[in-house]
Amino acid sequence: AMIGKGGHRHFMAKEIFEQPQVIGDTLNAMFNPTRRSITLPDLPFDLAAVPRITMIACGTASLAGLVGKYWLERFAGVAVDWDLASEFRYRAPVMAEGGLAIFISQSGETADTLAALRYCKQHGQHCLGIVNAPESTIAREADAVLPTLAGPEIGVASTKAFTTQLVVLACLTIALARARGVMDRETEARLSGAMTEVPSRAAEVLNHDGRIRAIAEDAFVPARDVLYLGRGTSYPLALEGALKLKEISYIHAEGYAAGEMKHGPIALIDEHVPVVVIAPSDPLFEKTASNVQEVVARGGKAVVFSDAEGVKRLRDLALDAVALPAVDPFVAPILYALPVQLLAYHTAVAKGTDVDQPRNLAKAVTVE
Ligand code: AGP
Repeated sequence: AMIGKGGHRHFMAKEIFEQPQVIGDTLNAMFNPTRRSITLPDLPFDLAAVPRITMIACGTASLAGLVGKYWLERFAGVAVDWDLASEFRYRAPVMAEGGLAIFISQSGETADTLAALRYCKQHGQHCLGIVNAPESTIAREADAVLPTLAGPEIGVASTKAFTTQLVVLACLTIALARARGVMDRETEARLSGAMTEVPSRAAEVLNHDGRIRAIAEDAFVPARDVLYLGRGTSYPLALEGALKLKEISYIHAEGYAAGEMKHGPIALIDEHVPVVVIAPSDPLFEKTASNVQEVVARGGKAVVFSDAEGVKRLRDLALDAVALPAVDPFVAPILYALPVQLLAYHTAVAKGTDVDQPRNLAKAVTVE
């Protein structure tokens, strides 16, 4: 069937605005509202028994996987090795027998990710796909699939696939933590309860569209370079924000772990480099706030995404600060994906690039 843009100018905009719906759809397939618990489909291996996890993907999917690594290690207490598929397949990776290898892919056809899956199957791993295209090669060859219910994603820049990948990884984290006996029922109810709020909170984030568009037009269109900073699960978001901006606006952007700034990138800071700071109120907030101070002291123009409390703390320092809804830090990475998508989108639209089909890029990289 023909897929339209639903009244939006671009598929990317339509797909950004679909996120409250598809995040909810993906969650509802695994969430039991009466028990406030997560149930995964039956898996052909014992999830509780996996000694170690290897997380493999490319591009935006790999950044969802990096958030997954932080979650799985913190809440399920299992070691996670994270790898880019293009590196993994040509290294000599060492994996524990009976380990779990997770492959994240929107298209399910990415050549490097598929090659990594085949390697892992030969090396005694249980292979789990987190895939959006149910008929794809990765979905067929994996031992089990946890689907993202994002629906078809047409824009080359991945948006709703990313946030639904995060939903699946969050559910997997809770399920694995429960299966391993390291998460009590109360914590499961709190975290899955926070998950159920994400669709409505995401809709609230989208109400900041006009504000983010103004920031994009004023501060980003004229920029040659942009830095994105975050700590903890906001670090992969910084990488994702920079990737999104690069691929559709052609502005050079780098994502950095905020604490890594003084090990090099701070040398780039001057009044011409906007610095996007992803800083939800969480136990790392104060550390990120002191990095913002360092940026501003060197003439840098910080654009802060936080919640009301964080914005209050950083407003006077920043060029601009957008207050998103306050949420449990567990689900913050899902929510904070939206403003960085909108920032990239509006910058690209204002620059007049081909947003849905950026130059040099293909939707699925089926050749090396
Ligand atoms: C994202 O905006 C990119 N276009 C790209 O990084 C993409 O996420 C990557 O190629 C992986 O694709 P897949 O999810 O289909 O495997």
